[in-house]
Amino acid sequence: MPSEAGDGGQVAEPAAPRGWWAAVRDQLGLEPLMLLTGVILIFVYQPDAAVAYLSTRDMLASRGWSIILNFHYYTAYLIFALVMVHMMRVFISGAYRATKKGLWQVGVSLAVVVFALSITGETLHWDERGFAVPWHVGEFFEALGLQDVFNWPHKGLLVVANATPKLLIIYALHIVVLPALLVFAMVLHYYLIKLKGISMPYWLSAGGRTAPFSEHIKAWAIYAGIILGVILIISIVIPRDAGPAPQNLSFSPFYGAAEGPGGLGITPTFPISWTHGMNRFVTIAFKLEPDIWGTVIGMVIMLGALVLVPYVDRLRAEPRGWAQAFDLRTRGWAFLLIALFWVTMIIGTVINAVSPVG
Ligand code: HEM
Ligand code: HEM
Repeated sequence: MPSEAGDGGQVAEPAAPRGWWAAVRDQLGLEPLMLLTGVILIFVYQPDAAVAYLSTRDMLASRGWSIILNFHYYTAYLIFALVMVHMMRVFISGAYRATKKGLWQVGVSLAVVVFALSITGETLHWDERGFAVPWHVGEFFEALGLQDVFNWPHKGLLVVANATPKLLIIYALHIVVLPALLVFAMVLHYYLIKLKGISMPYWLSAGGRTAPFSEHIKAWAIYAGIILGVILIISIVIPRDAGPAPQNLSFSPFYGAAEGPGGLGITPTFPISWTHGMNRFVTIAFKLEPDIWGTVIGMVIMLGALVLVPYVDRLRAEPRGWAQAFDLRTRGWAFLLIALFWVTMIIGTVINAVSPVG
């Protein structure tokens, strides 16, 4: 099995496309950039339900701060996309075989943490869309009969004084707990990769020469620089609206509304839009109430499918070509599970787009 690691700093160079490959592989170092921009944002952001929306709105109205907040926001999209691409490349090349099952599971936990960071980040924005997150957490506790245990009834959020402690919990998750978990899981992921080596997927033939690590870093830096430059330009030139204020503030267009955020047609951002779509799906298809069960069922299906993938794949060795990679006699169950993951995400995303209100 061709391996790129563990040869004294000399890394086998794939014939093509080395730069893109290296950039995607290393996720462009985006997570450290999120930590950096996130720490800068802490100095301005105010995690108080009465003023959080205004602090975000002021940031978006300011020339400098809007660039940092936009960069943080658009990079979250890019991380989501790259994690999905990386996961599918690892899946197709069967790189979770044998002793790498644990490495795959650490990857799954990274995907979960990135998802949690996106959802908590969206809350901090504290427009009506951000407000939807603690609202749904309240509905979830109510579905389990735990709203008093956690003191989190969803209607309580309509009183600003009740909403602030909830926002603070989500703030602590976003800026301390989840970043700590992210760093821990990334260190473990990289440690296991170093220990077990990186397998070269079959669609990249080894170039026949080895290149010093510094050369790989140079190629990576060029591609990462270009992609990050594009995000930076987008962050500077494409203005972003702060969105409508949450319905518990008197100046919100939704103040006093009888409906919650979903009923008002407010939907989440793209990477997490499947959650609202799944809520709609269980309401439309099964009349299930409260609709938050859609998100819970979606999470269980998607997480369960990913966790089980390496145990049902009967690949003996890493595939040497497309025919082996797509051989359903050995990989049928694994493909079924990964299809389940994507079908759930796609159903949710599409229903969110076509039937947002509810
Ligand atoms: C923040 C998210 C993640 C980061 C930064 C990350 C980073 C990396 C890097 C740098 C490598 C080595 C190079 C490569 O093979 O691409 C790698 C390998 C690997 N990753 Fe991830 N990863 C992440 C998420 C995931 C996820 C979601 C999964 C699976 C569910 C996963 C499973 C694996 C596996 C099995 C390998 C070994 C691949 C091989 O040996 O060829 N990772 N990861
Ligand atoms: C991979 C890691 C991270 C992801 C995916 C992420 C994602 C997000 C997202 C999507 C937003 C909403 C932005 C908006 O709607 O305008 C946000 C806001 C925020 N993030 Fe992060 N974040 C990450 C790491 C961090 C870290 C490490 C910190 C601080 C230590 C941080 C601090 C903040 C703050 C203070 C805001 C609120 C800004 C505002 O809306 O006014 N983030 N994050």
